[in-house]
Amino acid sequence: MTEPGDTRAALLAALRLQLDWGADEALAEATLDRTRPAAAAPPPPALLSAPPGAPLPRPSLVRGTQGSPVLPPAASRAAELAAAASTLEELREAMAGFEASPLRETATNLVFADGTPEAGLMLIGEAPGADEDRLGKPFVGASGQLLDRMFASIGLARETGFYITNILPFRPPGNRTPTDGEIALFLPFVLRHIALVKPRRLVLLGGVSAKALLRAKDGITRLRGRWLEVMIEAESTLPALATLHPAYLLRNPIAKRDAWADLLLLRRTLDGE
Ligand code: URA
Repeated sequence: MTEPGDTRAALLAALRLQLDWGADEALAEATLDRTRPAAAAPPPPALLSAPPGAPLPRPSLVRGTQGSPVLPPAASRAAELAAAASTLEELREAMAGFEASPLRETATNLVFADGTPEAGLMLIGEAPGADEDRLGKPFVGASGQLLDRMFASIGLARETGFYITNILPFRPPGNRTPTDGEIALFLPFVLRHIALVKPRRLVLLGGVSAKALLRAKDGITRLRGRWLEVMIEAESTLPALATLHPAYLLRNPIAKRDAWADLLLLRRTLDGE
């Protein structure tokens, strides 16, 4: 016969297992995407049985009467708010007041930026993790500590040498990879952030940041290690160096060799200016 104590022990063991697997929050991985226009909401059941190879619906852009793309309301609101910000503080306030992303509801804090806007060098990561969400600052957890050591090794510290932010200002639940929709929604804020900081150069940390800003399909291993151009506003571009994300380096220490080569390229470039 099962004793109440046995049930409790089994439940605790199951919970402990979940924690070991990284499930530290009672949240679903997928969030409701309220940025989609109602008409383009989830596909009807018939679509689920579409033949293999049939084109997927593209709900994020709808066509205007003249056939031109029209941004869905949340995306055009983001673009409007971002464009109206004329200082970093105004941009932070605009982002804090932007309610269209469900990530805002599961995050504890808006993570805006850290470091020195006047440094001329701006680093852009992916999205806050648990430590960043708790403290409201980017790159303060384990990968942030590695990042600080990496940049210190070429003589750059946050306090004087660089400014840092992320593509997403809110933590995705369970640290999952940001969706394309989330990235597209926050991109106007990131581009405005860069335009207001006016750095001379960008460093893109990891594939999410590199692909979003370079509008590239290639993965980070193809994009890293050379200066490329990021289009910030019409006719305005900035040199950007994509490199491996410190969180990836923590999992793959062998890749530190490539990251070191990228840092040396950055150092040489800055020395030559
Ligand atoms: N990883 C990121 O990309 N950004 C952070 O702020 C922390 C971890």
